[in-house]
Amino acid sequence: MSRQWKAWCALLLQIPLNIGFSTPAHAEDALATKNGVYDSSTTPTNLPWNTYNYCNAPHLNAEHYSKPDNVTDPKLVFLNVVMRHHKRTPDNLYPNENELNAIPWNCTNFHQFSYGGGSAQIYHETFSPPWHPFLSQMWNGTCDEGQLTEEGLQDAIKHGKDFWSVYAHELGFLDSVNTKDIFVRTSTETRTFQTAGGMLVGMDPGMATKTFPVVTQPSPIDSIPPDYSCPKADDIRDAFQPVPAWNNHLEENMDLQNSLTALTGTTGMTAWTSWYDHFFDTFTSRTCHGHPLPCNSSGACVSEDQAAQVFAIGDFEYNYIWNAAVNASAYTQLSFGVFFMELVHNFKAFRSGSETRKLILYVAHDGSMIRLASGLGLGKVAPLRWPALGSEISMEVGQYAPDNSHFVRVIHEGTPVPGFEWIPLDSFIDNLDEQVPADLFNTCMEG
Ligand SMILES: *[C@@H]1O[C@H](CO)[C@@H](O)[C@H](O)[C@H]1NC(C)=O
Ligand SMILES: *[C@@H]1O[C@H](CO)[C@@H](O)[C@H](O)[C@H]1NC(C)=O
Ligand SMILES: *[C@@H]1O[C@H](CO)[C@@H](O)[C@H](O)[C@H]1NC(C)=O
Ligand SMILES: *[C@@H]1O[C@H](CO)[C@@H](O)[C@H](O)[C@H]1NC(C)=O
Ligand SMILES: *[C@@H]1O[C@H](CO)[C@@H](O)[C@H](O)[C@H]1NC(C)=O
Repeated sequence: MSRQWKAWCALLLQIPLNIGFSTPAHAEDALATKNGVYDSSTTPTNLPWNTYNYCNAPHLNAEHYSKPDNVTDPKLVFLNVVMRHHKRTPDNLYPNENELNAIPWNCTNFHQFSYGGGSAQIYHETFSPPWHPFLSQMWNGTCDEGQLTEEGLQDAIKHGKDFWSVYAHELGFLDSVNTKDIFVRTSTETRTFQTAGGMLVGMDPGMATKTFPVVTQPSPIDSIPPDYSCPKADDIRDAFQPVPAWNNHLEENMDLQNSLTALTGTTGMTAWTSWYDHFFDTFTSRTCHGHPLPCNSSGACVSEDQAAQVFAIGDFEYNYIWNAAVNASAYTQLSFGVFFMELVHNFKAFRSGSETRKLILYVAHDGSMIRLASGLGLGKVAPLRWPALGSEISMEVGQYAPDNSHFVRVIHEGTPVPGFEWIPLDSFIDNLDEQVPADLFNTCMEG
């Protein structure tokens, strides 16, 4: 890691975290108020523990957990948690990826198991034969695109351990990892299975040699990423992007974009120029693993400053699309309505007494986390940031004396959200219900 990069981080990190950011009409303005860790899963100890860390979000842990403090004997009775998978290799590739990703990615010791029940326990190893004619399109080494890394798995195990320190050791709400108490659902992406497995081993090291089911929906209609088709939602998003509130940030950062596309061979490719998503992904995947920012074969490199601008713009874009744009809530409700419906089912089943499980744990993606945060209303408290790796939203149902009434508390990245610490269960369910558009299937297909 370069000295410059470290210096830049140190500078940013002097600013207290967890604050929102002023709208970065111009990314350089945003830099002054934006901050966070983008180059290590470990947040430096001189920073607040809940500092935004893109590589490994702060999460629930016994050391910083507090019960609702104005009631005697609060009792946790039901828990839904949604989290993003942990760190991975880049999900987007440059046309000349090999040129721009110099350090090999090593997944040799992280076995990728996948087998049908009753078969041999096979795992696959990624290998690029040196004679393969298309090697210029892929980085070197033994990792596939978008693959959870060994370091990502270790972060997931630590995450599970911290989770257990709160909900088992501190509260005694859970006492063992079993399918009677715990239900786990993931997307159909391997990195979400692997993160779920890491969480379970963190909760109980004995799980390393045991099987545990995680539930998925059929991939074409999976509500988690989300992957179900909703042309109406696409139309709404298509309408709120070609407007000044969006276009201004692209125009004002045109120098940055021109310089990045020239360097990375992506000039004129709309996947890279219509937003900064792909640059954000390809930079953070590298920096979170201690790999350098892209350098091309002429020796030109993406600078720390440019990366910092991209990170700030990434926050702006995520907040705009899913939270702040005029019709963002309609877009989020249509594209994530099926998942909101699932949460409504969960909490209603609990309320009616038909739910026997204690914990429902979802392992999801950044696109799921941002929609959930927006739909819950967290984006009304402060602008939303790009959901970090391992990002976590915990919805706790507590039961309180004297009348045993039920209240929900929402904890985001390990910290209770102001204004979301004491929501009557009925109101919480009503709010979730309001995020589910009427006649969702037909409304989606009207597009
Ligand atoms: C506890 O505090 C919350 C505000 O955080 C308030 O809404 C609630 O009524 C309080 N409950 C009791 C029992 O005092
Ligand atoms: C990959 O990492 C493993 C240890 O995790 C090491 O034994 C191996 O030599 C590494 N491979 C390369 C090509 O660096
Ligand atoms: C990476 O792969 C390319 C293409 O096969 C090869 O020319 C180059 O030597 C490799 N670099 C390293 C560091 O392994
Ligand atoms: C927002 O939605 C309304 C109602 O469908 C529509 O009239 C308006 O043009 C949309 N605004 C933008 C910026 O997309
Ligand atoms: C490397 O990037 C510079 C711009 O920073 C560009 O002028 C040059 O053409 C690029 N080289 C290659 C081989 O793409």
